[in-house]
Amino acid sequence: MLPMDREITVPLFDMVMSLTNAIDLISPALVNHHNRVAYVASSLASELGLPAKEQKDLMLAGALHDVGALSLKDRLDALVFECSPEAASRHSQMSCALLRSFAPFADVAPVTCYHHTPWEGHEDEDVPAGSHLLHLADRVAVLVNQETSPTGQSREIVERVAAQSGRRFGPRYVEAFTNLATKDSFWRELASPHIRSVLEERFRSAMVQLDMQGVLSLAKLFGQIIDFRSRFTATHSCGVAATAEALSRQLGFNEQERCLIKAAGYLHDLGKLAVPSSILEKRGKLTEDEYSVMKGHAYHTFHVLEPVDALRVVNQWASSHHERLDGSGYPFSRTGRDISLEARIIAVADIFSALTESRPYRTEMPNDEALQILRQMALEGTLDHNVVGMLRLHYRELSHLRMEAELNAAKEYQQFRQTNLSGRDIQAA
Ligand SMILES: [Fe+2]
Ligand SMILES: [Fe+2]
Ligand SMILES: [Fe+2]
Repeated sequence: MLPMDREITVPLFDMVMSLTNAIDLISPALVNHHNRVAYVASSLASELGLPAKEQKDLMLAGALHDVGALSLKDRLDALVFECSPEAASRHSQMSCALLRSFAPFADVAPVTCYHHTPWEGHEDEDVPAGSHLLHLADRVAVLVNQETSPTGQSREIVERVAAQSGRRFGPRYVEAFTNLATKDSFWRELASPHIRSVLEERFRSAMVQLDMQGVLSLAKLFGQIIDFRSRFTATHSCGVAATAEALSRQLGFNEQERCLIKAAGYLHDLGKLAVPSSILEKRGKLTEDEYSVMKGHAYHTFHVLEPVDALRVVNQWASSHHERLDGSGYPFSRTGRDISLEARIIAVADIFSALTESRPYRTEMPNDEALQILRQMALEGTLDHNVVGMLRLHYRELSHLRMEAELNAAKEYQQFRQTNLSGRDIQAA
């Protein structure tokens, strides 16, 4: 436990919603998808009379089930009602592999692992009951057409689901869904743009409050979900977090402040979840439109973290990482006095880490060349002179810490890419 000046607590619910919203910004077809699945899954759990803890875990499983779908194609393919369970099993396993590293998700991860597995032939296997429920909730959510009245669709959706009872879906879950579907409120809440507030009302106070260590662990997991979408950025957020923390130590910040700066490092590119991996991984020059989508990530980081009141300052540091002191940055074109020292640290750590990593269009740059570029930027008045000076002064130590963090992240990335979970692995999750 860290000695803290003032104990920080962040509702787990708020952070999960930020991640969920970021992931679903990637396409208009996906907006609110995770919220809808969370709503249907938890409503089914309540209809079945499951204990409150299971209702909460199923809400979380619904809100996080596709975090392992790394490409937009995987996400869009899964929007087809009849999508093949075999094709979708990879992203389900990836979701489980990512989520199980964070203790509060220990019971949620195995549920996501089988969320495309049909009932028939798997009813007696090691598939958790929650996965069968989640599977039905996910398929109901993809059947809802946002363009037309929610209640007008209910009969057709119930018929399509009922036709698969005992085949794709467990009869007990189909029966619970058929009962739920008689309620007008179920369809109105499911199709509502304010579905988040319905979930908030039901679950926010039931979820844990994270302390500083919890925030850091979850922020690290977010960093992995962001970074693992491309092998070129597989260790980036970890590198930025380690560099920013080390720089803030040299600049005299106390332990709590350093932890918060490190969390901002993990979270700075959260908005990249809204950028298709085809753009992140493009080898050639980005078109004007693609560059505009890419630049949007800084604003998305700000936007998705905004509802997390307890991380207001962390959000400001994280989402300002492309701001420049002379006002030439984005998304808000802030100038010097409006860019805090913490934000300036994240900006320097981001550029230093990015330059020394390889990218689809170039190989990594040696440290001294990267330092030269940073020095030039400080001279031109875009980066903070003192922060760059501190990096230059301690660059061997800082570089060592960054490389160590990136090496560990690279090992975790390799393990993740080789994910092939057996039933026993999942039970042990
Ligand atoms: Fe899925
Ligand atoms: Fe889904
Ligand atoms: Fe960025």
